[in-house]
Amino acid sequence: MLLGVNIDHIATLREARQINEPNPLEAIFILKNAGASQITMHLREDRRHMHDNDLKAILQNAFLPVNLECSSSKEMVALACKSRPYRVTLVPEKREEVTTEGGLDLKLPHLKECITKLFDEGIEVSLFVDPTKQAVEQSLELGVSSIELHTGEWANLNLMAYTNLKHTHHSLAHLELPPKELQSKINHSLQTLQKVAKYGKDQGLNIYAGHGLNYQNVKPIAQIPQISELNIGHSIIARAVFVGLERAILQMRELIEK
Ligand code: PXP
Repeated sequence: MLLGVNIDHIATLREARQINEPNPLEAIFILKNAGASQITMHLREDRRHMHDNDLKAILQNAFLPVNLECSSSKEMVALACKSRPYRVTLVPEKREEVTTEGGLDLKLPHLKECITKLFDEGIEVSLFVDPTKQAVEQSLELGVSSIELHTGEWANLNLMAYTNLKHTHHSLAHLELPPKELQSKINHSLQTLQKVAKYGKDQGLNIYAGHGLNYQNVKPIAQIPQISELNIGHSIIARAVFVGLERAILQMRELIEK
């Protein structure tokens, strides 16, 4: 199982103070030493964490492939084409959201054109999609070779069932359910991810997954045989605050390697 480490939240910490540290560029050397397979970063339209200079510096210095997550806006696709990372993952983006909620709307009229522009630059394109059969079929129609399955629902259900989130001010009101009901939703969510991963792989797609994966919930997802790569950010950076980035990555690798 390959691991893309999303380093956005190093920049989130920097932006909390609006100075020049911690610098996400430093992380890329640690990623390499810790055996990460890829650097993942999201350049948001509002530049709330990563900035254009970060992308430039990381691309100039990276000796691991860079997976750039961005929206399909004209500006972002032009920037991605100019920067030419190894892969672009197209994600939905809303200004007011805390993090990427839900998969990409695959019916966006300009999507095909964006994908063609990125292909013309020799960039692999992956689409961040909800785990549905329909998303697999639409992705195939759009001609991409890879999709990343959104694991947010799986992650949220696990947080509400097995952690103290429900007792905090960040409790997810729509998931304040009796334990039995939560457990049945967790089972269903895993089965859905398993089925869609198999369906997508059988159709010839590379299947990646990510969002909200952490040290408690990652194993069942890592065991889905058709998934070849996980992209994980927040939980690794959160653990790195206490144990250091290298150890946090090594601990995640131990859990996910097949
Ligand atoms: N994959 C994609 C496409 C994402 O947008 C994100 C969040 O930026 C992640 C993975 C990583 O999510 P998390 O930070 O919750 O691990």
